[in-house]
Amino acid sequence: MKTQAAVVYEPGKRIEIEELELSKPQEGEVLIRYTYAGLCHSDVHIAHGDLEARLPMVLGHEGAGIIEEVGPGVSRVKVGDHVVCSFIPNCGSCRYCANGQQSICDMGATILEGYLPGERFPITGPRGQYGAMCMLGTFSQWGVIHQNSCVKVDDDLPLDKAVLVGCGVPTGWGAAVNTAEVKAGQTVVVMGIGGIGINAVQGAALAGAKNVIAIDPLANKREKAMELGATHAFESADLAMETITNLTRGQMADSAILTPGLMTSEIVGAGFNAVGKGGIVVLTGLNKLEEMNIQLPGSVMTLYRKQLRGSLFGDCNPTTDIPRILGLYQSGDIKLDEIITRTYSLDQVNEGYDDLLEGKNVRGVVVHQH
Ligand SMILES: NC(=O)c1ccc[n+]([C@@H]2O[C@H](COP(=O)([O-])OP(=O)(O)OC[C@H]3O[C@@H](n4cnc5c(N)ncnc54)[C@H](O)[C@@H]3O)[C@@H](O)[C@H]2O)c1
Ligand SMILES: [Zn+2]
Ligand SMILES: [Zn+2]
Repeated sequence: MKTQAAVVYEPGKRIEIEELELSKPQEGEVLIRYTYAGLCHSDVHIAHGDLEARLPMVLGHEGAGIIEEVGPGVSRVKVGDHVVCSFIPNCGSCRYCANGQQSICDMGATILEGYLPGERFPITGPRGQYGAMCMLGTFSQWGVIHQNSCVKVDDDLPLDKAVLVGCGVPTGWGAAVNTAEVKAGQTVVVMGIGGIGINAVQGAALAGAKNVIAIDPLANKREKAMELGATHAFESADLAMETITNLTRGQMADSAILTPGLMTSEIVGAGFNAVGKGGIVVLTGLNKLEEMNIQLPGSVMTLYRKQLRGSLFGDCNPTTDIPRILGLYQSGDIKLDEIITRTYSLDQVNEGYDDLLEGKNVRGVVVHQH
């Protein structure tokens, strides 16, 4: 069957809308009609070449939709199910899934290659085989994906909001709740208030942090952070230091969660200086794989027992945490409607990313037409 999709052919070039051919689902695979897709910064990294991926690639890794067909051996979902896609699949049986670390499931090894198990490419087109970002490619009307990327959700959940729980919400929320291990009464700094950082703010507030200090150069981002749980907001880490010192009587923050669009050594350094003894610095934002963006005084780290932790998908387990977060949305404890700034058609995907890069959006969402 045919599908319209947003493709990156060459790093640095505009994303192209192309009609591609989608093959039928094979063993363990499903056909999904994507209804919504979120515009996350990680797709920009592919389009800009900051993250090297196999090209051509259909972009989009935050997605929700309805299962239209299932291949042989599919047991996790059935036709008609509403699903939120997880940008990391989980096989359920590798060493990492088995011990409760689904976000580093071995099956996720090919998320930047974009093919399904067995080097299978369900999408073909004028330039041969097309990969799909995170084995999903949600900037496409339809997708053939593995069942292990699907999390069934209740039929009455609005998928136009639930779509954000495929990446942005668990990644930010989990960075606070899981990786930074935020506890009641703590002081938490969040640097970079986009679709990820705003959810780190929500997660830190929900976990009981007394002070949640949001840092972003943009006023609209700081306002949104204050609306959704931040207690203070500053344009830069430098400007925040005096308040962090005063609020903690010089002990400094318990954790700093770093969620900027592009991670730099300056940002890592600022996060490191914002936390005190025993403090945890969480690295969520990305940059080129070979970029040496951590330059820190190791002896200070040792003597102050500071920790640096990488966080993927907020260290969440998609099968349990996606439904958990959606439950918190239904109870009003996590806000999703408020963090969607604008919607776009698939044709407007470049405009959506221009808006993201100009800092207009907390999160933009593509609404698919069929
Ligand atoms: N680790 C993971 O699992 C994971 C998952 C998804 C996205 N990401 C990465 O997280 C990062 C954020 O993604 P997003 O979609 O929220 O991006 P975004 O572009 O929506 O938001 C980034 C924000 O950072 C702010 N910013 C830029 N420089 C800053 C600085 N020096 N100090 C403070 N704030 C600064 C920008 O103004 C913007 O508001 C990206 O690098 C993305 O690739 C990681
Ligand atoms: Zn993402
Ligand atoms: Zn696994």
